[in-house]
Amino acid sequence: MSQKYSFLEQLLFPPTKVNKKKLHQASQQKTILITGASYGIGEACTRLLAAYDVHLILVARTASKLAVLKENLEDQKAQISLYPTDLTQAEEVEQLIQNIKNLPNGLDVLISNAGHSIKRPIQKSLERFHDFERTMGINYFAPVRLCLGLMPLLEKRNGQMINISAINVLLLPAPHWAAYQASKTAFDQWFRSVAIEMEAYGIQSTSLYLPLVRTRMIAPTKAYQKVPAMSPEHVAQLIVKCLYRPKRKWMPWWSIFGRLGSFLFRGPWEAFLPRFLKKDR
Ligand SMILES: NC(=O)c1ccc[n+]([C@@H]2O[C@H](COP(=O)([O-])OP(=O)(O)OC[C@H]3O[C@@H](n4cnc5c(N)ncnc54)[C@H](OP(=O)(O)O)[C@@H]3O)[C@@H](O)[C@H]2O)c1
Repeated sequence: MSQKYSFLEQLLFPPTKVNKKKLHQASQQKTILITGASYGIGEACTRLLAAYDVHLILVARTASKLAVLKENLEDQKAQISLYPTDLTQAEEVEQLIQNIKNLPNGLDVLISNAGHSIKRPIQKSLERFHDFERTMGINYFAPVRLCLGLMPLLEKRNGQMINISAINVLLLPAPHWAAYQASKTAFDQWFRSVAIEMEAYGIQSTSLYLPLVRTRMIAPTKAYQKVPAMSPEHVAQLIVKCLYRPKRKWMPWWSIFGRLGSFLFRGPWEAFLPRFLKKDR
């Protein structure tokens, strides 16, 4: 792992061991689509899976970054296909779905990972309705559109959908994060509802509720620089483990305390927090 964990990070994020033999058996000859493969968690996942006999379909906007990634992984086992797509553009997503439908071997796994976060106080958002449209566009409508288009293919292969969610959706909402949290929560609810139906059609689903992960997504938030965060490589290990050990959900072991606190302390949280927030106009 490239990021060295502090003592606290080692406690919060205990190591994960990937069973290479089981991963090999479970993933052999499978077609796996990863959205948001150009950076962060999606890139780490691509690098990990590249060592296996799989067909990786990489989706993101930055075509040049995807091309470099493919070039770097040329000596690896995986077949890699690039589909540069802006997932917020309906026509581009429809084209992507059509291209995947035309693949000879169908689709086995969809890793829905592409996302965008925005942190902004509401007073600074008054003229920025587009922030809410943008986050809903990529974090909610894009994965919904993709799932709808690809479900028939996944059904044919008894496939799997993995949603990269955030722990925040299970906790008390934090101020300044309305756009991001609302959009991630919307998709989480959609996905959990649909997951029950998908299971009836033989599609397995997993939601990963991630804590902070040290990627470019959190880089602009100064306060996060010293806060414990997982490495994207560690998250990639958790994701690929779901291929041979499917589970409905994953969340950090300590999230139980956060969820319990969210249940017990909504009153004090909402009563006292406004006093600590600066009037930031
Ligand atoms: N980092 C964290 O602390 C954290 C915590 C919890 C959950 N998550 C979730 O983890 C996922 C991955 O985030 P990350 O931390 O790896 O962030 P990242 O490094 O910023 O990567 C985001 C990925 O999404 C792609 N993407 C963004 N907008 C897109 C669009 N319109 N069309 C297609 N692709 C798009 C980006 O590619 P292009 O820019 O090339 O399009 C990039 O590959 C997100 O869903 C995020 O909500 C992250």
